[in-house]
Amino acid sequence: MGVFKTFGVSVLLGIVAALFQYFVVYERWKNVRSLDRNDFARNPNWKVYQDSEIKTVYYEVDKLGEVLKEWQHGEFILYRLKESEKAKYNFDPVKELKSDVVARKLDLGCKNTEASKFSTMLTNCLFDMKFQNGKEEIIPAPMLLTEEGSGYSASFANFTNKDTVSNLWNLLKVPFSPRGKAVSFEQAFISNLKQPRITAPFHANPLTDSVAIQYQGSKTWLFLPPPTYVSMMKSTFAGSALFPKRSPNLEDKPEVYIYTSQPGDVLFFPESWGHTVYTYPGANVMFNFRQMYSGNFLHQPVIWVSAVIEHLIGVKGNDWTQKDEDIRKIQKIVPQKGENVRVQEMYKSMCGEEQKHKTDFDKQMLDLIRKEVERVTGSPFQEIQS
Ligand SMILES: [Fe+2]
Repeated sequence: MGVFKTFGVSVLLGIVAALFQYFVVYERWKNVRSLDRNDFARNPNWKVYQDSEIKTVYYEVDKLGEVLKEWQHGEFILYRLKESEKAKYNFDPVKELKSDVVARKLDLGCKNTEASKFSTMLTNCLFDMKFQNGKEEIIPAPMLLTEEGSGYSASFANFTNKDTVSNLWNLLKVPFSPRGKAVSFEQAFISNLKQPRITAPFHANPLTDSVAIQYQGSKTWLFLPPPTYVSMMKSTFAGSALFPKRSPNLEDKPEVYIYTSQPGDVLFFPESWGHTVYTYPGANVMFNFRQMYSGNFLHQPVIWVSAVIEHLIGVKGNDWTQKDEDIRKIQKIVPQKGENVRVQEMYKSMCGEEQKHKTDFDKQMLDLIRKEVERVTGSPFQEIQS
């Protein structure tokens, strides 16, 4: 009898999930497929917070545990090495990254694809769904950071050696761990770019808190807090991420935080904070741990349920063009996923190589990145040429 009852409940839950998916997710997406530049054409006054205005706690090498004793849930807070300690910080990729990763050598020429070369809204080679530009390869992570790995990048990478994940966390020497809880994820972002580029267009994770740890190199991030990203920009979900549908209204008071990471930086940011990331050339190792909190569900229940359902059944739309079983086993993030296709369709009319295709919102954000990069590097900013 019990078996039938369980079976009945499962069937019922399945039907509810399917109806929710159909009426909430697909109906919602019908209305947002045709965005264009006008949706991002308003120019409100942005309240800009510089890197130095982010709440920061300074620490000494190997003594982060003295100031960071637990996961910073719901906080946007940076833990940074004291200026006098920076010279003592050392990260040895050969010792710490004993693992293979799936990496890709990107050809910024974006052959045979529609591309947006430099944008906070659109990924390079946006329509490169069939991996025409650079094949994925499995390579040792430390090699990626040497001369031999020049031009390679591994995003949302999973390590083949799972010990590497705990090793990286243990380097922090803090008295807690994000692992072992019901749901936690980790992803590595390892790159050795020849030219700088925006490695992630604006997106947000509505489900989890994150901590971004910069072990080597540097990245410039723009962060949009939820009142700006979710409310004013009407971000909508696709899979487990949120993407903006319009720029804030003229009477709105949107906020943006500029953050440039340094080796040793540990930055916590809460769920639904929109962000875009610019990666500097050369060896770069960033690691992201995520932690799910049940309270996050109450903030945005519809998005939460949708993201979970899409995560579970989102394999629909997968069209593996690269049949390498070994790569498939290691790397679970799939560019051809149905939800990614929807996002790309949503932004399609804004994608192009010419300046005129860029939205005003994008131009404003790029301008902030440009000024920050000039401040950090001390030299004029050069937009990617090819
Ligand atoms: Fe992200």
